[in-house]
Amino acid sequence: MDNNNQPNKSQLRFVTWGSINDGKSTLVERLLSEAAKTTSDRHNFIVADAPGNEIYTPEMITDASNADIAIVLCDADEGIQKQTRRHAYVLATLGIKHIVLAVNKMDVNDYSEAVFNDIVIDFNEYAEQLEFDTITAIPVSALKGDNVSSKSDATPWYDGTTLLSHLETVKVDNESRRNAPFRMPVQSANSVNADTLGFYGTIVSGSVKPGDALRIAPSGKSGTIDRVIENDADLTQAVAGQSVTLTLKGNVVLEVGDVLASTEMPISAADQFETTIVWMSEDALLPGRPYLLKLGTKTVVATITDIKHKVHVNTLSQLAAKQLESNDIAVCNISTGQQVAYDAFSENSDTGGFTLIDRETNNTVGAGMVHFALRRSDNIHMQAVDVDKQARSTMKNQKACVVWLTGLSGSGKSTVANIVERKLAAMGQHTYLLDGDNVRHGLNKDLGFTDADRVENIRRIGEVAKLMVDSGLIVMTAFISPFRSERGLARSLVDEGEFIEVHVDTPLEIAESRDPKGLYKKARRGELKNFTGIDSPYEEPENPEIKIDTGKHSAEEAADIVIEELSKGGLLG
Ligand code: ADX
Repeated sequence: MDNNNQPNKSQLRFVTWGSINDGKSTLVERLLSEAAKTTSDRHNFIVADAPGNEIYTPEMITDASNADIAIVLCDADEGIQKQTRRHAYVLATLGIKHIVLAVNKMDVNDYSEAVFNDIVIDFNEYAEQLEFDTITAIPVSALKGDNVSSKSDATPWYDGTTLLSHLETVKVDNESRRNAPFRMPVQSANSVNADTLGFYGTIVSGSVKPGDALRIAPSGKSGTIDRVIENDADLTQAVAGQSVTLTLKGNVVLEVGDVLASTEMPISAADQFETTIVWMSEDALLPGRPYLLKLGTKTVVATITDIKHKVHVNTLSQLAAKQLESNDIAVCNISTGQQVAYDAFSENSDTGGFTLIDRETNNTVGAGMVHFALRRSDNIHMQAVDVDKQARSTMKNQKACVVWLTGLSGSGKSTVANIVERKLAAMGQHTYLLDGDNVRHGLNKDLGFTDADRVENIRRIGEVAKLMVDSGLIVMTAFISPFRSERGLARSLVDEGEFIEVHVDTPLEIAESRDPKGLYKKARRGELKNFTGIDSPYEEPENPEIKIDTGKHSAEEAADIVIEELSKGGLLG
């Protein structure tokens, strides 16, 4: 997570998390204006204000993971809410050690000691299960100013400090990043002069100087620092928070996303992790669906392979889950398409924290923290084989590929695929047809039609199709495959040019009027849930290689169009 502004001793970074209408902005404004009047050397607050959103935002998570202290606001009228508990849980997960529980709106609660005490007991009972070093509860009125910067006469029973003086005196450790092992994710590579490449990035922890020996992950390369350059000037040393260009001795070439690390404390790389994920999208997280994972400056495709358990934030108990909804927090295993350099989040929030991004919308949909790499990713290696795809395809006098038919139930996918296969067989080509109704009786008989099951259905078909392509076959698939993400995943599993997406474009009215299996009627009667086109979405392909308008073309003609395209692409013998 970004960390451009490294704290110095007189700075304190804090976040304020609460809920809608709890007076958060009033409190922060008052706090800052009062702070500006004081002479304390700790008035240099860096405030990350959170919106009163119901759903976490990526900014909130990033700001909190860089904060020294968090103020959790509680409306005295409302008491400790589920949202308050969730905030405390997420803050603890993000490594926050110091919490202020600001109990606001004391003025409208007659400055009642009993109201305050009940809230504090309630919060402490919950928070003692989390690993905070300090929890400081303060009764305040953001509106009237009680106990914000000066002790209030209205709360004679309160003998603690004001919010401002607490923030000015609380001991936080802001040296730890500088003392941590050196880490710098490469953000870009630029020529420093005619024959030297420099690698630019922000040092997220530790320090670096010319002559330092480095290890680079995930490539495993090593190197020695030649120059440390900031704004065209050579430095003798640079520390966490600085953005610099580093040059290495020799001709070591690095890529964006590589992480430079000290040799004594190198950074590891892996492609399978146990993590905690905070999900922040209205669309559910579905295991098996491809997302983009951004860790440091590296972005890779990733899938959640297993939701180990969700955390019930009120009770902190563990719940089984097939998918995650917004604000869910869960321990999940993740698999990435490539090796990624990482530290445990508890060691370094910059090299151990990541975001998940939706591939279709580019929105950030989750934030995550690496616990550790799963050992098996170190131990399972791809087996290199001598007889490869090329050899197998050549023997069959063709080029292996996947012809991926997608469309509504009743659109004619299976019919078209059958004719294509028959015609290809007659031409002497080697084919195999994977068809929804058949595969769902065998390999995928454990799957139904929820979004999560459909994602898994297509993920498995994609993997099977990939193996078949590797065996040299022309593979045809006939599945509704309603989601762009999973069709994209299936495409990404094979090489460029090997995936021919065919949209069998039959309007819903026509597919429904055909209704060969009577399923649309059933769905309309409400007897069949999650039926595509009725109460489950179909996301049309945006750029299919082939689009067949079944209103214009017969199934025979459609098959000819597909074969023509394969032939044009040089795939047939
Ligand atoms: S997919 O959405 O996961 O790609 P798939 O192509 O495997 O679906 O299976 C679709 C076939 O299952 C349909 O042709 C239909 O015969 C049957 N089916 C049963 N229930 C449903 C449903 N709820 N939605 C769509 N198809 C269903």
